[in-house]
Amino acid sequence: MKRLKKQTGLLGTLTVPGDKSISHRAVMLGALAEGDTIIQGFLKGADCLSTIDCFRQMGIHIEETGDTLVVHGKGLHGLQAPTGTLDVGNSGTTTRLISGILAGQNFVSTLSGDASLNSRPMKRIMSPLSMMGADIQSKNKDNCAPLTIKGAPLRGIHYTSPVASAQVKSCVLLAGLYADGQTSVTEPALSRDHTERMLRAFGADLQTQGTTCTITPPKRLYGQHIQVPGDISSAAFFIVAALITPDSCLLIKNVGINPTRSGILTVCKQMGANITFQNLREEGGEPVADLLVKSSRLHGTVIEGDIIPSLIDELPVIALLCCFAEGETVIRDAAELRIKESDRIALVSQNLAAMGADILPTEDGFIINRHSQKIPPLHGASIHCAMDHRIAMTFAVAGLSADGETIITDSHCVDVSYPGFFEQLKQLCLK
Ligand code: S3P
Repeated sequence: MKRLKKQTGLLGTLTVPGDKSISHRAVMLGALAEGDTIIQGFLKGADCLSTIDCFRQMGIHIEETGDTLVVHGKGLHGLQAPTGTLDVGNSGTTTRLISGILAGQNFVSTLSGDASLNSRPMKRIMSPLSMMGADIQSKNKDNCAPLTIKGAPLRGIHYTSPVASAQVKSCVLLAGLYADGQTSVTEPALSRDHTERMLRAFGADLQTQGTTCTITPPKRLYGQHIQVPGDISSAAFFIVAALITPDSCLLIKNVGINPTRSGILTVCKQMGANITFQNLREEGGEPVADLLVKSSRLHGTVIEGDIIPSLIDELPVIALLCCFAEGETVIRDAAELRIKESDRIALVSQNLAAMGADILPTEDGFIINRHSQKIPPLHGASIHCAMDHRIAMTFAVAGLSADGETIITDSHCVDVSYPGFFEQLKQLCLK
């Protein structure tokens, strides 16, 4: 349990842990490559550790020293049948991406996770994988994990995905590594493209046109040296903390600003945020910058359409930000939020309302109002976070700008993506 109190003047320089999406993919492609893959800045959050465990169970030797990982790849056909069920923990990314890989193996495997994971929808990957020829069954026939996957020779397909989901797209592209011809995925809006970037770096031929990506099955992948940038989804909590806490100025170093991930920066700027980019550079095929963020006077906006996939994980903390923006903010087209680690539309609305915000949940988003700059928008409350890491961190930040005390129970769930989050937050509050 953590208790938070109102703060002013968050000052300092910090770095956030490595990108979760990139860390997962680096282990997966490293395992399927020939030769060693060295990963620096790997995120040792519980989700990425689940990915490591799964590949170890399939015979991949992975060494850890500090935040550097060496994956001794065994090639596209080097995985061994796991001896037991693969434990995917809380990780949707592990589950959906690994399923694409498992569909092309010559063995049977079973995936299962925690209660939240085992209630998340898997039909979105079961359908395209079945179309490619894999036999994938939901144990309880509810289209959720546990999933049993009987690998098979796969057919290349053109899949039109009903959702803009990088997990679905990546699952199909990874299965495409094992198909008998090209595999394409078209999505309704562009989702994060880390899989495409990394597959190219490992030597695969991928062509992207608009929101369609096509992979030609490669003969082999080659081990790489990967520098993982800081996770913008983790930086988001400190960006919002600096913007809404009076007299703050934070320099957040080494943040990945891939355009398919950085919608939060576009939206913050649209709302009047004082954020400057420093030291713009490219590392390991991903754009990176240092972000200087200062407390700002913000105004409401509309967040909708194609930008949504590029800020989907940040919407809980963006909803908090909007409570501090003058006027009305409407967030729509974000129904996917209801099927994340928790129903984030319900939980964010319930907790912000408990803190005194004027927030209305809708089917696919929120309507948030702040009527007067004079009245502090939030007061402390006891927060219900349903073991969802991003809800816990959002409301820790909320607690820094709320009158009275905010209590976060189950605060250890932040370890899923951000071990050390509360320690870093405490450091800033001491200054
Ligand atoms: C992720 C994709 C997103 C995101 C998740 C990580 C990934 O999920 O919410 O946290 O690494 O591919 P969807 O693909 O379901 O949108």
